[in-house]
Amino acid sequence: MDKDFLTIHDLAPEDVEAALDLAAHLKAMQQGGVPHRYLEGRTLGMIFEKSSTRTRVSFEVGMYQLGGSALFLSSHDTQLGRGEPIRDTARVLSRYLDGIMIRTYAHETAEELAAWATIPVINALTDLLHPCQVMADLLTMREHKGKDLSALKVAFVGDGNNMANSYLYGAAKTGMTLAVATPKTHQPDKMVVKNAMKDAKETGATLLLTDDPAEAVKGADVVVTDTWASMGQEDEHDERKKIFAPYQVNKTLMKKADRRAIVMHCLPAYRGEEITDEVFEANADVIFDEAENRLHAQKAIMTLLMG
Ligand code: CP
Ligand code: NVA
Repeated sequence: MDKDFLTIHDLAPEDVEAALDLAAHLKAMQQGGVPHRYLEGRTLGMIFEKSSTRTRVSFEVGMYQLGGSALFLSSHDTQLGRGEPIRDTARVLSRYLDGIMIRTYAHETAEELAAWATIPVINALTDLLHPCQVMADLLTMREHKGKDLSALKVAFVGDGNNMANSYLYGAAKTGMTLAVATPKTHQPDKMVVKNAMKDAKETGATLLLTDDPAEAVKGADVVVTDTWASMGQEDEHDERKKIFAPYQVNKTLMKKADRRAIVMHCLPAYRGEEITDEVFEANADVIFDEAENRLHAQKAIMTLLMG
């Protein structure tokens, strides 16, 4: 693996598999009460420019379980919020910490941080990508649908957002079939699609883009959705509700999927919008496994980068 984890695109297919294997191993150790203090004495700084429940708690608890500690650095309370340049912040934090996690808006901010930091930088969500979540999702699929991810058909339905983009990279590296259904006006990022198509050639993955949710979901083993208005798009919420209405994951749409299909959602979920309460609750076990797996997947990534 490289110094940083900014995108699944940077990982070799074997790296993705090794990280998922390690995540499963760490999960088993945690559940069996076996000590696994692989990051004893290490410290992670967590820069947040956006809100979070899962990411903050899972990174902080993950570091604790690995024998290290984590520091919450809200951009509002640090000099970053008052305009201190990222490149200076990167060099300062590199003198104190062993790793930095960042949740920010522009993906370039995470890239700049990684370029100037001498310690590993982990992307905990940008407007473009959410790779830690997709690693947790892949782990969840392995648990519920078997280890051979290349045998799966996955449908992502809704906005062509950071989750859709990261799914394209995750699918391309694991050889699965991924169908992404979005309105034509809200497709995934063009550069991501291009890169993922190239990656897919290496693994035999099939990536399909469509504006027809029924086509995407047809025969799918896993159906994934996410909010229609991501952080930073709150002003567009009402308009988006109208645009995305045909993309709701509901009982009618789920009839097109394989009858044993599972539904996943990175959370937070907005019931009655991207998913109905009925479909959400019918899949709650999977969805909360997925949330739990953020912890195990990130512990694996931190161990590989900071160990
Ligand atoms: N799924 C996810 O990243 O959740 P948070 O925004 O709560 O961290
Ligand atoms: N697409 C969502 C994911 C939240 C975890 C957002 O960026 O707000």
